[in-house]
Amino acid sequence: MYRLLIKNIGLLQTPVGSFSHKGEAQGENLKLKDACIYAEDGIIKEITSDGKVPEAAGDAVRAAVAGDRTCQVIDAGGKLVTPGLVDGHTHMVFGGYRQHEIPMKLKGATYLDILRAGGGILDTVRHTREADEDELFEKTKGFLQEMGSLGVTTVEAKSGYGLDPETEYKMLRVIKRLDAECPQDVVSTFLGPHAVPPEFKEVGPGELETPEQHKRAADKFIDFVCEEMLPYVKEHDLADYADIFTEDSVFNYDQSRKYLERAKELGFGLKVHADEIAAIGGSRLAGELGAVSSEHLISIDQEGLESMAKGGVTAMCLPATSFYLEAGFAPARKMIEMGIPVACATDFNPGSCPSLNLQFVMNLACLKYKLLPEEVLTAVTINPACAIGLGDKVGTLEAGKQADICIWNAPDVEMLCYRFCSNQADTVIKKGKVLHE
Ligand code: NIG
Ligand code: FE
Repeated sequence: MYRLLIKNIGLLQTPVGSFSHKGEAQGENLKLKDACIYAEDGIIKEITSDGKVPEAAGDAVRAAVAGDRTCQVIDAGGKLVTPGLVDGHTHMVFGGYRQHEIPMKLKGATYLDILRAGGGILDTVRHTREADEDELFEKTKGFLQEMGSLGVTTVEAKSGYGLDPETEYKMLRVIKRLDAECPQDVVSTFLGPHAVPPEFKEVGPGELETPEQHKRAADKFIDFVCEEMLPYVKEHDLADYADIFTEDSVFNYDQSRKYLERAKELGFGLKVHADEIAAIGGSRLAGELGAVSSEHLISIDQEGLESMAKGGVTAMCLPATSFYLEAGFAPARKMIEMGIPVACATDFNPGSCPSLNLQFVMNLACLKYKLLPEEVLTAVTINPACAIGLGDKVGTLEAGKQADICIWNAPDVEMLCYRFCSNQADTVIKKGKVLHE
C-alpha cells in the first residue's frame, strides 16, 4: 500500500459529484479552508477542513518521518488545491507540424481554403502515415509530460490523421499504449471521418473539386468507414467514442447521421465536431442522437442549442482554437443559461490550436466566454471527465475518487483565471503519486 497526505491546504476548491454540472450547478464549488487530503493506493480516503487532521494521518506522518518511502507527506504551504485538470478534446497524436501555414494565414487564406488546396489536415495526414508507431508514441509521450507539468492529469485523444485503416489503427494503438504506460488516464476517440482522404477523391492533389465531386467522394468514404473501420475499431477495443468533422466542405448532415447511427449501433459513445465554421446541423444531430458531447460550437444556432439542451449533450468549447483561428467565441454563457453543461478543452492539434496549455484555456473561458472562475473550474474538471466516461473516477476531490490533485502557486481560482502565460501549477499528483513538482 502507498499513502499520501497533503496538509496545510489554504483553500481546497472542487465541484462535487460524478455527474455533469449544468445551469446554476456549473458554478457550484465546494470551498474548504485549512484542509488536508489523505489517500491510500491512489484513492482519496478522507478530506478534512478547518485545521482538522484525517484520522489515519498521524500514523502516516509517523511512517514518513521514520523513512517509510511508501508514505508521502506534502505540505501545501497554504496554497490552492483543486482536482487535476481534465483536457477533454485533443488531437495530440500527429506527425510533423504546420508552422509553414503561418505565411498563408497572414496572406488571408482561411482554414478551409488551406484544406481545400490539399494542405491543412491532409498535410498532417501525409506526415502521420509516414511516421513510425514508436516515434509517434515518444512524441506524444513528450506532450503528455508537458501537459502534466501544466496540471493536466486526464486527457482525451482522437485519431483522424490517418484516414486509412492502417494509420488510423496505428494512432489508436498509440493512444491505448499512452494510457497503459504514462501516468495520465488517456481516453481514445475514433475520428476516422476527419477529412476525405486523397485516395477517395475524384481529382488529383491540389486540384479543386466541384461540390458534386466532393459529395460523391465523401459518401463513398463514409460507407467505407461504416462497413470496414468502425467494426474493426470496436472488435479490437481501440476506442470508446466515435467522432466526425461535420462541416461545410467536409462531411454534411446526412453523411454525419449515417456514420453516427452506425457507431451508436455498434456501442460507441458519440461526439461531434460541430458548428466550428458553419452551422450545418452538427449540434442538432448531436441532440437527436443523444451524443455525449458536441464540440467547437463557434457558429452554433438556436436550433442547435435547443437540441443540445433537450438531448443532455455537453458543450465542449475550445476557446484557444477561436483565438488561433481569429474566429468568434462559442456562446458558452448562453449555454449555461440554457442548462447545457459546459466543458472547456484545448483541442491541441498542429493546425487550428498548436497549444496544449489548458491554463490558457481557463483564462480565455473567463475573459472571452465570461464564465465565473467557479464555472471555469467545473468546465475543466468534472464536466469533461463526464464527457469522456470518467466522471465516477476523476474530476472532483472526494472520498472514493482518484487522488488526482493539483497544488497551485496561487491562493484561489480567480488567480488562475487572471494571470496568463505563466505556469501556475506547483505540484501535480496522479493517483496519489507526484507527476510533476
Ligand atoms: O478540431 N476541425 C477539425 N479538426 C481539428 C483541426 C485539425 C487540424 O487542423 O489538423 C480541430 O480544430
Ligand atoms: Fe478538434
